[in-house]
Amino acid sequence: MARMNAAVVTSFAEPPHYQPFEVPQPNAADEFIVDVLAVGLHPRVRSGAAGAHYTSSGTLPMIPGVDAVGQRPDGTRVYFVAADDVIGTMADKALASARRSIVLPDDADVAKVAAAMNPAMSSWVALRRRVPIQPGQSVLVLGATGNAGTMAVQVARRLGAGRDPGRLAALTSAGADEVVQLTGDDDATARALAAAAAESDIVLDYLWGMPAQQAIPALLTARSDRSREMNWIQIGSVAGPAMELPSVALRSANFRLQGSGQGSVSPRAYLAELPSLVAEITAGTIAVTATTMPLADVEQIWPQPEAPGERTVLVP
Ligand SMILES: NC(=O)c1ccc[n+]([C@@H]2O[C@H](COP(=O)([O-])OP(=O)(O)OC[C@H]3O[C@@H](n4cnc5c(N)ncnc54)[C@H](OP(=O)(O)O)[C@@H]3O)[C@@H](O)[C@H]2O)c1
Repeated sequence: MARMNAAVVTSFAEPPHYQPFEVPQPNAADEFIVDVLAVGLHPRVRSGAAGAHYTSSGTLPMIPGVDAVGQRPDGTRVYFVAADDVIGTMADKALASARRSIVLPDDADVAKVAAAMNPAMSSWVALRRRVPIQPGQSVLVLGATGNAGTMAVQVARRLGAGRDPGRLAALTSAGADEVVQLTGDDDATARALAAAAAESDIVLDYLWGMPAQQAIPALLTARSDRSREMNWIQIGSVAGPAMELPSVALRSANFRLQGSGQGSVSPRAYLAELPSLVAEITAGTIAVTATTMPLADVEQIWPQPEAPGERTVLVP
């Protein structure tokens, strides 16, 4: 059996170790092996390696990594999403399939694609597949300072979000019209959010937990026309996996709650969105700072927090 080096999780309580592992074998006609060129260390990868993601099967040992850029034997570079949660992409070689990969254009930057696809996809797919955005609709990003949230501001702008033209003149660098800081003063935060965003058409929620629990009533109460749709798209839960939602929120306003992620969006729909997203990343419309590090150092890198606005990319 051929061997390779990989990041291997042997206990959900420890970081992965860099060690030899068997090269995976294709099981189906559309599967193929690639040399991995770059893998993003996304929050989703960390939760998978901790056995804590909702798709996690709990099987060990496992190789983390949900996506990557790889190279086929003929030299073609592909971006691909791993097919299962046990043998992932943080290795010299990985299993890719035609159903979950696209060929990259020659000018694509390997590290940027590996860094940006996962966080950018969250808002891109939400605004194209879950609640297709209409030009001029206003979007609130709850949790805009993270990688995915910052990209969500850029994605929403690229896909047509906006307010009246006067306000567009005051764009911040990422494209936000207005920024509200979530502080420890819950009442003041709720008032500020309501003042800035009560008229939002779509909310991209990366936080859930207490911030969402407080924001929903504040926004709906301050809304001028409560019968106008507010589409709340749940994407991440960095502030908590659960919250309390008063039933009145759903009766007293045209409040529509849904999520966007693996399962609620089909692999086929994700695949269809990948080429346009690569094009946006390559063109720089969706900006990313990729910090590349050797995969061999994965154990030391794993516990280190990322610098704000940067995504760690591991290179075999
Ligand atoms: N459903 C999908 O398709 C999909 C795809 C990609 C990502 N996601 C999810 O989206 C989330 C964000 O991903 P990311 O790549 O942007 O992560 P990230 O770069 O690590 O950003 C995390 C953000 O959350 C904030 N945060 C952390 N704890 C918080 C709290 N208790 N209250 C309020 N804000 C808090 C951080 O702010 P500070 O730095 O100020 O603490 C930061 O802005 C993750 O849950 C990820 O799993 C979902």
